[in-house]
Formats: sequence, structure tokens, C-alpha cells
Amino acid sequence: MTDTAIRQDLDADGVLLLTIDCPGLSMNVINEALTRDLIAAVERIRTDAAVKGAVITSGKPSGFVAGADLKGMNFSGGGAGAPSGKSKMAQLFEGVFTLNKLLRDLETCGKPVAAAVNGLALGGGLEIVLATHYRVIADNPKITLGLPEVLVGLFPGAGGTQRLPRLIGVQPALMFLLQGKNMSPQEALGLGVAQAVVPADQVVETAKAWVKANPQGGVQPWDQKSFKFPGGVGHMNPNFAQTFMGGVAMAHKQSYGNMNQVKAIMSAVYEGAQLPMDTAIRLESKYFAKVVADPQAGNMIRSLFVSKQAAEKGARRPANVPAMKTKKVGMLGAGLMGAGIAMVSAQAGIEVVLLDRDQAAADKGKQYTADRLAKKRTSPEKTAEILGRIHATTDYNDLKGCDLIIEAVFETREIKADVTKATEAVVGADTIFGSNTSTLPITGLAEAWSKPENFIGIHFFSPVEKMPLVEIIVGKKTGPEAIAKALDYVAQIRKTPIVVNDSRGFYTSRCFGTFVQEGLALLQQGVKPALIENVARHMGMPVGPLAVNDEVGLDLSYKVGQQTKKDLGDAYKPGPGEAVIEKMMQLGRHGRKNAKGFYAYPEDGSPKHLWPELSAHFPVAATQPTPAEVKERLLYRQLVETARCFAEGVLETPEDGDLGAIFGWGFAPFTGGPFSHMDTVGLETVVQTLDRLAQAHGERFAPPQMLRDMAARGESFYGNAAKKKAA
Ligand code: NAI
Repeated sequence: MTDTAIRQDLDADGVLLLTIDCPGLSMNVINEALTRDLIAAVERIRTDAAVKGAVITSGKPSGFVAGADLKGMNFSGGGAGAPSGKSKMAQLFEGVFTLNKLLRDLETCGKPVAAAVNGLALGGGLEIVLATHYRVIADNPKITLGLPEVLVGLFPGAGGTQRLPRLIGVQPALMFLLQGKNMSPQEALGLGVAQAVVPADQVVETAKAWVKANPQGGVQPWDQKSFKFPGGVGHMNPNFAQTFMGGVAMAHKQSYGNMNQVKAIMSAVYEGAQLPMDTAIRLESKYFAKVVADPQAGNMIRSLFVSKQAAEKGARRPANVPAMKTKKVGMLGAGLMGAGIAMVSAQAGIEVVLLDRDQAAADKGKQYTADRLAKKRTSPEKTAEILGRIHATTDYNDLKGCDLIIEAVFETREIKADVTKATEAVVGADTIFGSNTSTLPITGLAEAWSKPENFIGIHFFSPVEKMPLVEIIVGKKTGPEAIAKALDYVAQIRKTPIVVNDSRGFYTSRCFGTFVQEGLALLQQGVKPALIENVARHMGMPVGPLAVNDEVGLDLSYKVGQQTKKDLGDAYKPGPGEAVIEKMMQLGRHGRKNAKGFYAYPEDGSPKHLWPELSAHFPVAATQPTPAEVKERLLYRQLVETARCFAEGVLETPEDGDLGAIFGWGFAPFTGGPFSHMDTVGLETVVQTLDRLAQAHGERFAPPQMLRDMAARGESFYGNAAKKKAA
């Protein structure tokens, strides 16, 4: 088998057609072979007199080029082995500058080069396109063009931060660079990123025609004397100055200065735009090397890209169980969650029987889908098709033929047992039964199903149609078929699964709860509510613990507390924030749902604000902790709980732990998740910090023995996981 990644075909008119077709891969990615062949191709264009110009296209139906091969890149993630010191930084610079320099060589080769883009071009793929002199895109609105690197901790480091602003202006370019937003071919045409959009079968022909007609076309606008930077450039230019003043503020508001790549993008564009191209790309590579050298990039790529993709492709699926696609799902309970689960299932082409206590409730659940689709302006035909798959009913006999049941009735053990038994009487115990309970242990609920090996937890997050994660909970007796069925179903509805073992609150609710409880404990101890909320957001959480408790409902927190108390009896230890919730219940404050919580929700619709009377009920202490102290408590309370889940076997892999934290409760994504963060900090430091916090604030911070042992042996979570995999 050949390892050629770019085929070269010279036509009679001297146009060299370069067809990118990475061997053995379904999608083109920038890897060693592609880089090597591109170097050879650029050299040929430059030196072979028979070559008058070139066209670059893709030989894959899946797209043009999807970006750099992130899996193949050697990111250090977890801190170990990250280049440090001058010579290592210099090495890293040379490494990342290779492609950047190569694309500069391409655009300065002296002959016209056009791109014939017949499918998606993302990241480095789009950067190749930007380095050509004429860009033709196939007229297909499904084609996406974009620079999404920012979303996984990187930034476009092959000229993207320099060419895009020079093509479309600094302000629009920053939108794409900072948000990782895609553009369609028509948008690309409108912006001037593309010069032509033509039917798919004419892209190569059109590109070739341009090359033939423009023998002098091989010079980029920014290499011409007459070049004017679109929108102007330089700190004396009001447009430019204002863009950066606003842009820096906006970027800071979104990332609180936590994201290295966001700062690097702003700097590379600001400084690079004022330099000649050759210097500008060196500057870009300098910033890129700095971002890559920090463990943050490796951690983000591992969790947000590599682990996420692996989970979606079935990393945790029992290998020897044949595919178990779901055709018809029985949805018990058509409330908030049941309605959402019905919607995503029907959208994925699955038939849904949506059952509730009375027809009005079942119909209301179905209406949820109709309302959401109308909001999204789905076509009437598509809407009818999706709604046609949802059968709202109260009759258990309609569940006949369902190959998966999901239960989302009230969070009461007795009611759940009743509906479970009623369902088994119709579909039989061989059918797989999933419970969407948020707190009740699965092993106990499984007692209501005669074959507990077919009973599993399938835990969604609200709102179902927006939240990407599904937590699969394996009960003590759950069998491999149930796990496979649940994971195949999650793949059908295109969500990201994690697999955890049974425990009270499982993994996500349990650890997320510690963040909220620590916020309440701080409030109870007299810390200013604004300090608690602001520090939480600064550390990368999407909202503060008080705000999120308002959203979930303080009455729900109260009910969960009461149920836990009842279940655990003497073993129950009240949480540090319990008194706060009890007080709020006495005050009739249930959160956003009754417009009364830790926040006040003005009737005139103006933005919510912290309830001014909070300090009357939770007096503010005379001495306040520093923001760093508040942050440490909010962060380490979550870290220690995730470590406990690992020590107790609730979590089997650090990947599940990191994915669940980021996508389940919004744990600071720039850390790569709690396990990546602990590895980066170093487990010895983590244990020392926890010991200090436990002494000051109580046993809830005490590190589990396993963490102490790992720290003593100099181990890390991912280091051990890698060893385990290799063994
Ligand atoms: P909900 O109160 O909105 O819906 C429950 C539905 O179950 C109602 O429509 C009710 O009429 C129906 N129901 C009750 N008893 C029934 C019976 N005997 N037969 C048929 N239908 C019956 O509650 P929600 O929020 O949808 O929660 C449902 C389940 O999902 C609970 O177990 C909850 O813990 C869990 N969950 C909730 C999340 C949330 O954010 N609300 C997140 C994840 C899980």
C-alpha cells in the first residue's frame, strides 16, 4: 500500500492538480505524511518549469481537510514532559513553525495556486485554503468552513490569525477566531474568503480555469505594494483601536482570563496585523508554541476532543455484545424530562410511546416537541414527521413492541416501582429498562424488575435537547447487554455518554452538589454573597452556586435532603449548607420558579440581582476571606469528591470523570476536568492542600486513602490509566 497523501497530476496546460487523499483514513487530516507531500508539491510548483500553476482539492467524499491530527500530536497534557527552558521552547517553535512556513512558501511560490474545496475545511484545512490565491467552494450549504481550534484550547497556528484579518478585516476575523464559529460557502463568498461558489462537479474545472487565465495571479493582496488592510490597522486607527478595546473586554467577560489561547489570539492579531507577513507568521508561531507548552492545551484537547470522541464511538461499550439499535422507546412520564427525551428520540428517527397518568399530561409532553420545533422554525413537513413518531397515551398496552423503556416519573421510590412493574407485565423482563432518576440508587430500583441484569440508569440533564451528556449508571446486577443497549441508544441520539457505577447521586449529581453546598456553607459563615458568586465565575464555573441553586429549585434541594436523611437514618451527616436551605424554605423562597430565591427576580423583567435582604438572614461577617481562599474551597471541595468517586469505584476511568464534570455540571473546561487538573497540580500538592482545608473547615475536605497512596508513589490519574490500558 502506498503512503502517498497527495496525488500529483499535471495536465496538458501545465496545471498541477494536487489531490489530498490521506491513505487509510476516512477524512483528510494534517499529519506527517500530508505535510511531507505538501512540502514536495510546493517545491515542484516552484522549480518545475512545466508547472504553470496548481489546484489543490480533496479525493475524499467526506470533505477537504478536517484540520490537524490532534490525536497524533504529542501534547504533554497533565504537566509531565511539557517543554520548558529555552532550548525546548526553541524546539517547540521549530516544530509548530513547519506548517506555517510551508503555507507561506506556497503563497509566495510565484505561480498561481487555487483551492477547489469540495467539502468541509476546518482548522488547518481552512488555513491551507487561505494560503492559496483563488478559492472556489462547492455550492452546498452543508459544507462548513471554520477555525474551531479555540474550542479545544488551541488557535489557528498556520497563518490563520494573520490571513483571515487581512482578507476580511480584524473585527469580523476575531468573531471567527474567538468563537470558533463556522461559515457556509455563501457566507465565505460574501465575506471575501472565497472568490467563487459553483456546483460541486465544477470546482476543479473553475479553479483550473482561473489558474490558466491568471499566470500573474500568484501574489497575495498583502504581498502587493497597494495593499490596504480592510477596515484599517494600527493603534492610531479608530476602528482598530475600538475593536480591541471592546474585544479584550468581551473576551475577558467570557473567559475571565482563564483561557491561554484566547489571550494568544488577541495578541497575535493585534501585533501581527501591524507587521509584514513574514514576521507576522513567526510571531503567530511564537504565541502558538507558548500555548502548546502549557499543560492547559493538552488537557483541553484530551478531554474536549480525544476523550469525547472516544466516548461517542463506544470506548466504554462491552465489546462482545452485538449492536443493539433502538427502534421503539417507551417513555414513562411526560413531564419536563420525559418530554425532552421523547423529543430527542423522535428526532433521531426512533418511535416513541409517551405515557403519563392522564391523557392531558401525555399530550402536554408531546406538545413540548411541537413548541421547540416551532421555535427552531422547523419546516411543517419535518415537524409532522417528527411528531408522527410520538404516540401520547395512558395505556400500558401501547408499550408492546418497545425495545427500550425509559422511566422519568416522580422521584419517589414507590411510584417508580409501580410503573416499573406495570411495564414489565406488558413488555416482559427481557426488555432493557432505564431509569432517569437523579438521586435514587439504581440497584434498589432494579428490584422492581424481575431481571435486574436488564435494569440500568440512563441519566439525562435538563434541558434534554440542549445538554450534551448522558450518565449511564451500572447497578450491582446490571449486565453487559443493558450497558450496550444504553450506549447504542445514546449514540443514536448523538449525545456524549459516561459510564459510572451505582452510588447515591451517582457521579455528577454527587459532585455538583458539593459545589452548591460549599457555596451555601460560605454564605452561612458570613461570606458576602457577591464574593461567592463572582469567585465561582472567575474560576470558570458557568454560574455561581447560589444562582444555580435558584435554577434547580431550593425546594428540590430540600426534598433530596429529606429523602437522603430518611434513607440513611443514623448514618446521615447533615451537609454544611443544610441550615441555609431550611431557612430559605421557612421564608417561602424556592428559587427562580417562584421568583424568590437567593436572587430577586423583578416583575418588570429587568435582570435578576442578589436578594438585598439576604444579609438580614445570613449576616455578613466583619472579616472576609480573600477571593483565593473562596476559590480554593469551591474548587477543592469538588476535587476531593471526584477523587472519592474514583477511590470508591463509582468512576472507573479519569476520562469519564473529566467528561462528566465538564459536560454535566460545567466544571471549568480550561482545566480539562478535575482529574486533569489534579494531575497538573500534582497529587502531592493536592493532598497537602486538602489536609490543610480539612483541618480548617472539616472532614468533608479529607483526602481518600487512595489519593494519599497515589501521591506517595508519585503517580497520576492519567499516568495510571495509561499503564492499565497498556497492561
Ligand atoms: P416532572 O414532575 O416534570 O414530570 C414527572 C411526570 O411523571 C409528570 O408528568 C407526572 O404526571 C408523571 N407521572 C407521575 N406519576 C406517574 C405514574 N404513576 N404513571 C405515569 N406517569 C406519572 O419531573 P421531571 O423533572 O421530568 O423529573 C422526572 C424524573 O427525572 C425524576 O426521577 C427526576 O429526579 C429525574 N431527573 C430530573 C431532572 C431535572 O432537572 N428536572 C434531571 C435529571 C433527572
